[in-house]
Amino acid sequence: MPTANLIDLNDVVHHASGQPILSVARLCLPPGHHGLLLGPSGSGKTTLLHALAGLLVPHQGRLSLLGHDLRAIGDAGRDRLRADHVGIVFQQLHLIHAVSIADNLRLARRLAGKAPDEKGLKELLIRVGLADRMSALPADLSQGERQRVAVARALVNQPALLLADEPTSALDDANCDGVIDLLLEQAALSGATLLVATHDRRLMSRLPVLLELVKPMERAA
Ligand SMILES: Nc1ncnc2c1ncn2[C@@H]1O[C@H](COP(=O)(O)OP(=O)(O)OP(=O)(O)O)[C@@H](O)[C@H]1O
Ligand SMILES: [Mg+2]
Repeated sequence: MPTANLIDLNDVVHHASGQPILSVARLCLPPGHHGLLLGPSGSGKTTLLHALAGLLVPHQGRLSLLGHDLRAIGDAGRDRLRADHVGIVFQQLHLIHAVSIADNLRLARRLAGKAPDEKGLKELLIRVGLADRMSALPADLSQGERQRVAVARALVNQPALLLADEPTSALDDANCDGVIDLLLEQAALSGATLLVATHDRRLMSRLPVLLELVKPMERAA
């Protein structure tokens, strides 16, 4: 039986303040094919990741995730699909600073409508090397450790698709390699497909480029 592509995107355009900020003719991602969305700052990478996660609906075009048309299924359908199948490591991490890192993971499960899974949570924190920091607040961790929490949180609902937005651009070469190793390793352990949006061309030696974005305004010029 043919497996649906994780992502199928055709002729997507999105505008903000009357200007095109994202324009993509085609993106197709079969399960298991990790890759990069490469593009300079302002080319629409975060906008595209948010569209793939169903956090925004592009003004034009067709976008499907696991065979579901993201426009047709409505807000509730997009929320459900995201909760069940997508994990996101946001550019600004967006950890909840008032609660412990374990509670950040617990909340992510609860918000997705999933039953608590203390064993799975502990295993994830062991995998990212933070099992002994479960009760720490995000503010008590280093930036690298916070990023590890964000990776663990993105995987807590066993997603099919792991999206990471600009995870390495502020890092030196050794830490850049470490973060990609972590994402690839954790995606493999979770059976997730990894899609990284970045302007960091160092990552081209680690993952195939699936799409190179240009600023729509520059393309038109
Ligand atoms: N809500 C908005 N209103 C107006 N402009 C917006 C809005 N959201 C994004 N933009 C603009 O759209 C463009 C694409 O933004 P986006 O954040 O997707 O780029 P990016 O490729 O992720 O950039 P970076 O590498 O700096 O994170 C930018 O020029 C940004 O200023
Ligand atoms: Mg961005």
